[in-house]
Amino acid sequence: MKQYQLKIHKDKYIPVMVDAKLPELEPSEIRIAMDAWSINYRDLLISAFNSDISREGLVPLSDGSGIIVEVGTNVSRLKVGQRVCPIFFHDWRTGSFKETDIQSALGGSFPGVLSEQIVIDEKSVVVIPEQFSAIEASTLPCAAVTAWQALFVRGNLNENSTVLIQGTGGVALFALQFAKAVGAKVIITSSSDQKLQFAQKLGADVLINYQKIPEWDKEVKIATEGVGATHILELGGPDTFSLSLNCLSAGGYILQIGVLTGFGAQTNLMRLQSINATICGISVGSRVHFENMIDFMIRHNIKPIIDMIFPFTEATKAYSYIASAKHTGKICITHE
Ligand SMILES: NC(=O)c1ccc[n+]([C@@H]2O[C@H](COP(=O)([O-])OP(=O)(O)OC[C@H]3O[C@@H](n4cnc5c(N)ncnc54)[C@H](OP(=O)(O)O)[C@@H]3O)[C@@H](O)[C@H]2O)c1
Repeated sequence: MKQYQLKIHKDKYIPVMVDAKLPELEPSEIRIAMDAWSINYRDLLISAFNSDISREGLVPLSDGSGIIVEVGTNVSRLKVGQRVCPIFFHDWRTGSFKETDIQSALGGSFPGVLSEQIVIDEKSVVVIPEQFSAIEASTLPCAAVTAWQALFVRGNLNENSTVLIQGTGGVALFALQFAKAVGAKVIITSSSDQKLQFAQKLGADVLINYQKIPEWDKEVKIATEGVGATHILELGGPDTFSLSLNCLSAGGYILQIGVLTGFGAQTNLMRLQSINATICGISVGSRVHFENMIDFMIRHNIKPIIDMIFPFTEATKAYSYIASAKHTGKICITHE
């Protein structure tokens, strides 16, 4: 079968298509013929070769969907013909996150999904409901589950909340749709007026171009009559964190998710404590979070926003496209 593996090229890893053996099936595993995949900003970070962990030979990407073509002798939950998505952390199925679960991130420390077939434990997938196409389902495991955990599992978002969302990428547009579904007010920032108009059509209430208005924290304060946002989806990192803290409401939540501008951030500890704020670190979510999110999306008729679809044989173009940041929402890959 055809499979992509990361190979060192100059100062980074690039995905290279290789011929790979069909993997053996363990008794608790299922074999999935993959139909579609999606890329996340984290896949760019992994290919950037900035870690001590060797990724040589790693199958990249966490996100994909496919159909079960074979089941192991002990498989009881699932059957051949069902459509499924692998979960982001192979070992985080339910309950609280354990530090060792980090080692089970698909396409990170654990083999990923950018392969014609994969085998995986039957407990590490979710069943795709008929409402989602294979391509739509492929967008869900990382970006959507992250937005879900942040807003609802940790943030308890509701109709009285005001959420600030940074940018118009994958996590951001899922968060926008989820927040509007419960009636929260949404303030969104983007580098592009055109993308902001698109966000407005999805229900965003306040639009801020962060390139034209670098001090967007002040705009957020004005838009909230001086109160600030109750929830901030922190996707930027060092260049945005202080601004976020400035425009967070008393008792509000910073949902720390992204590192779009780097890894370290200065924190104003005095402001943090004086407004009784909470910073929550978010790392995607569990299988149970994923399943609850799918129920919610069906109840609210939410579909992923897909910007571009590349053929499997040209998967490297998905890497270049996400690096260009021209997209709005998700970038997918499928068979020709
Ligand atoms: N912690 C977790 O579990 C987790 C899970 C998923 C993703 N993440 C992280 O979350 C971030 C977003 O991931 P993604 O896959 O959604 O990325 P993405 O689809 O590539 O979206 C990137 C978008 O972010 C916006 N952006 C870039 N710099 C910005 C800035 N300084 N201020 C505001 N917006 C900015 C841009 O939107 P505009 O073009 O509209 O300006 C850009 O298009 C990444 O850092 C990723 O590593 C973390």
